[in-house]
Amino acid sequence: MEFYLNNKFLIIATFSFLLLTSCKNEEKVVEEPTKKKVSYEMYQPSEMAGFMNAMYAYNQQLKTQIMAGETPSQLPLDLLKLHSAEMTKGKSRTENWQSFVTVFIASQKAVVDTLSHIELKNRYNTAINNCLSCHKKECTGPISKIKKLLIQ
Ligand code: HEC
Repeated sequence: MEFYLNNKFLIIATFSFLLLTSCKNEEKVVEEPTKKKVSYEMYQPSEMAGFMNAMYAYNQQLKTQIMAGETPSQLPLDLLKLHSAEMTKGKSRTENWQSFVTVFIASQKAVVDTLSHIELKNRYNTAINNCLSCHKKECTGPISKIKKLLIQ
């Protein structure tokens, strides 16, 4: 009888243990998708970062054209996005940013101004130096990459 009682206790203990652990497992299953979503969002580049990369690719193309003796006339990017694109969390349009962005936009537009009397290579390098001016204050990571855009 004593053995049977002990056994019954063991069975109940085992069952409640299993129930408890399976509840925990269920909780974990519910939690996992949220965790995954968070880490996915962390690696998602911001709209501004995406636009910066598009500007990089565009200027790479300009450099190739200018070095081949061509006169680029197309500016397919909407530079006004610099005023509106969402930035990486923690980054914002500082006073510094505001002071650089207008000058930069004008200089990038001047590269495709086919009526300009300033040498094309100089206009192009001025635009790239304006990328660098802002980057020295606002985002130092890509500086060496941007320097490669300069035409020597
Ligand atoms: C007015 C300031 C400013 C100007 C001008 C500017 N940048 Fe940026 N750039 C930033 C900031 C701030 C970030 C970070 C944006 C973010 O993470 O949301 C950035 C990010 C970048 C990145 C990294 C994107 C990534 O994948 O994280 C590259 C590359 C870049 N810029 C290239 C350029 C090039 C090329 C130019 C010129 C054609 C340029 N930038 C002009 C401020 C500027």
